[in-house]
Amino acid sequence: MKKFKVCALLMTGIMAAALFAGCGKKDAPASSDKKLVIGVSLPTQREERWVRDKETMEAYAKEKGVDLKIQVADTDVAQQASQVENLISQGIDVLVLAPADASASAQSVEKAHAAGIKVISYDRLIANCDLDLYMSFDNEKVGELQGEYITKKAPKGNYIVMAGAPTDNNATLFKKGAMKYIQPLVDKGDIKVVTDLAVDNWEPTNALKIVENSLTANSNKVDAILAPNDGTAGAAIQALSAQGLAGKIPVTGQDSELTAAQRIVQGTQSMTIFKDTRELGKAAIDAAIKFAKGESVESNGKVNNGKMDVPSSLLAAQVVDKDNLDKVLIDSGYLKKDDVYKK
Ligand code: GAL
Repeated sequence: MKKFKVCALLMTGIMAAALFAGCGKKDAPASSDKKLVIGVSLPTQREERWVRDKETMEAYAKEKGVDLKIQVADTDVAQQASQVENLISQGIDVLVLAPADASASAQSVEKAHAAGIKVISYDRLIANCDLDLYMSFDNEKVGELQGEYITKKAPKGNYIVMAGAPTDNNATLFKKGAMKYIQPLVDKGDIKVVTDLAVDNWEPTNALKIVENSLTANSNKVDAILAPNDGTAGAAIQALSAQGLAGKIPVTGQDSELTAAQRIVQGTQSMTIFKDTRELGKAAIDAAIKFAKGESVESNGKVNNGKMDVPSSLLAAQVVDKDNLDKVLIDSGYLKKDDVYKK
């Protein structure tokens, strides 16, 4: 009874305070009317997938009635840092940040936190800082899928192993996953890794040089190429094609880009990985809205970033090759049949 009274008194007090607060902010819109502002910083638009992330977020934010401010950094670390500062100064409620450089972006996160802004690390993990959420795919699994696929196609022989940009934590995870399948066969003496290099900036022209040089150094005796994404796969296939070898050895990929799907249909690229970035983009906007409203956000695990176990939400990825391409990429509406099969 006594408790109830205290409670009732408290409620009256809170209501009075709320009314009072309402009187003071006469001209300000009621808090529920205020449009939430979400800041997004993307590392690039060079790969098709990042173009899609941007488009998805823009469309979904519109649907949800939130104000979205997107900046794109074109892989430039300094440019991304200043774009994030700019977003912070524009008064964003939450920051969604896909880093061009996992380590360098920690500073941007600290600045956002100092301004009371929660940060979601998007697709790529930001290292050595406090993070509110990490949203991505199961990236080690992506590498495992690539490694499993290529070692089945080429259980023996000379391998060119490429990794993505050293500044991208995903690149480390992709390679780690793939090597779970490749390394045991190297140890057994069945596979020889003749080239093992990272592709700076994920730049296809860098991948082209790596593959051209390796083909020359090995007198074209290469039996498989682990390419970490579709951009680098395209470059590898270009180098193979110049030697009349396109379609003769397995090449992996990732991202389900249109040109990769076309190469799979033509038989020059063996596989790609489907990561439905439409889902990731929407999930990030939903999470950002919750954070902006002061609500908690669900996660399905933790990933350590060197400083903390970051609450993480990881989506599944899937192998795509000529056997399931229509079903996975076309039936899902990710790619159009006419585009994929364009002559
Ligand atoms: C990775 C991303 C991949 C690929 C690559 C190059 O971080 O997970 O999907 O796009 O960057 O941008």
